[in-house]
Amino acid sequence: MTEMAAPYVLETNNLCKNYGGIEALKDASFSMKKGETIAIVGDNGAGKSTFVRNITGVEKSTSGTVKFLGKEVNFENPFEARRSGIETVYQNLALIDFLNVTENMFLGRELTRFNFGLFSWLNKKKMKSETKKLLSKTNVRINNLDQKLVNMSGGQRQCIAIARAAGWGEQLIIMDEPTAALGVKETSAVEEIIKGLKKRQISVLIISHNLRQGELFQ
Ligand SMILES: Nc1ncnc2c1ncn2[C@@H]1O[C@H](COP(=O)(O)OP(=O)(O)O)[C@@H](O)[C@H]1O
Ligand SMILES: [Mg+2]
Repeated sequence: MTEMAAPYVLETNNLCKNYGGIEALKDASFSMKKGETIAIVGDNGAGKSTFVRNITGVEKSTSGTVKFLGKEVNFENPFEARRSGIETVYQNLALIDFLNVTENMFLGRELTRFNFGLFSWLNKKKMKSETKKLLSKTNVRINNLDQKLVNMSGGQRQCIAIARAAGWGEQLIIMDEPTAALGVKETSAVEEIIKGLKKRQISVLIISHNLRQGELFQ
C-alpha cells in the first residue's frame, strides 16, 4: 500500500477554550495545506493568541482537536510542538534578555560536546557558527553574536525571534502579530523574512490585526 501524504499540515476542528466564564475561542475549525502561507486577521481580543497557544501546547484546549501532518496531536508543552517541527513566534517574545544572541538562538537546543552527568560543556563555537548560518538564511545582520539581548532594539530582538523560528522551522512556522510592536523600517525587515519563507515553500501561519499583512501572501 502506498502511503498518502498528509493533505494538511495543520487542521483544527471545533477548538474551544474557556477561561472561567469567558469563551475566548469557540469552535475554531481551520486547515492549511503543506507549503501554504495563510494570514488570520482579527480584532484585538478575538481569540487569535489563544488559538495559537492551544495549538502549540502552551495551554490545553477545553474541547476540539488539533491535527498536525494528518495526525491528532495533544502537545503537553511548546517544546514538544517544537520537537515535532512547529516553530512559533509568540506575541510576547520568548527570548531571554540576559542571554546573548547565540544563547537565545539555541535556547532549549544547546549542543553538548561532553556530558559528565550534571556537568555539560556546551559547544559554543559550533553554536556560534550555526547561529551565523541561521541568521544568514533570513538576511538578518547582527554584528556581534556575543551581545546580550537587553542591549538590543525591539526590531533586532524580533528579527532574532523570527530568524530562530525560520531557521529551525521544518514543517510549520506560526507567528503571532510579529510586527505589532515594530516601526516601519523594522516591519519591512520582518516582512522580507516572511517573504523568504514563502519562497522556500515553508508553511507559515501569520496572525495579525492588520489587513495589509494578509497581502504579503498574495
Ligand atoms: N489567560 C487568560 N485568562 C482569562 N482570559 C483570557 C486569558 N487569555 C486571554 N483571555 C481573554 O480571551 C479573549 C481572547 O484573547 P486573545 O486570544 O489574547 O485575543 P487576540 O490575540 O485575538 O487579541 C480576550 O477576551 C482575553 O481577555
Ligand atoms: Mg493576540
